Amino acid sequence: MAILPIITAPDRRLKVKSKPVDVVDDAVRKLLDDMLETMYLAPGIGLSAVQVGVAKCLITVDVSRDEEDDAPLFLINPEIVEYSDRIETYNEGCLSLPDQFADLPRPEAITLDYLDYDGAPQQLRADGLLSRCIQHEMDHLKGRLFVDHLSAVKRGMILRKLEKIRRQKVTA
Ligand code: NI
Repeated sequence: MAILPIITAPDRRLKVKSKPVDVVDDAVRKLLDDMLETMYLAPGIGLSAVQVGVAKCLITVDVSRDEEDDAPLFLINPEIVEYSDRIETYNEGCLSLPDQFADLPRPEAITLDYLDYDGAPQQLRADGLLSRCIQHEMDHLKGRLFVDHLSAVKRGMILRKLEKIRRQKVTA
């Protein structure tokens, strides 16, 4: 397995729309394994392939708590087929927007169709943090970041802050 560099905003590669995977083969599984390792190290609870520069519909998720066993979930070509009417607000962050957080309303529960690690079709009903995390990662596949849900003013503030941090890193 390998650790992959995570792209941070602002970066045009994060705006690319991801394409569905045709065949779930060893190359796809290798990428998923690397994504999972990268996500655990970050550490994060979700990662989409586009964040490591591969615009394919692949997501890794693990929302288990520290004291619990790892519970990795691999989502290939995920599609949300149902949203709950109930909306919940949660303070959301993103590995591509380091140290930035914002309160964001989203449907509390979802039903998801996807292919698993072996390419078998699965359906999952998710709520709470798992639902939140999957919706966030699915936004990445559409080229959207959580700041795209915010007002232009709030989004601009966050992106300018990250741009500034990056410039300081380059000149340091
Ligand atoms: Ni993210």
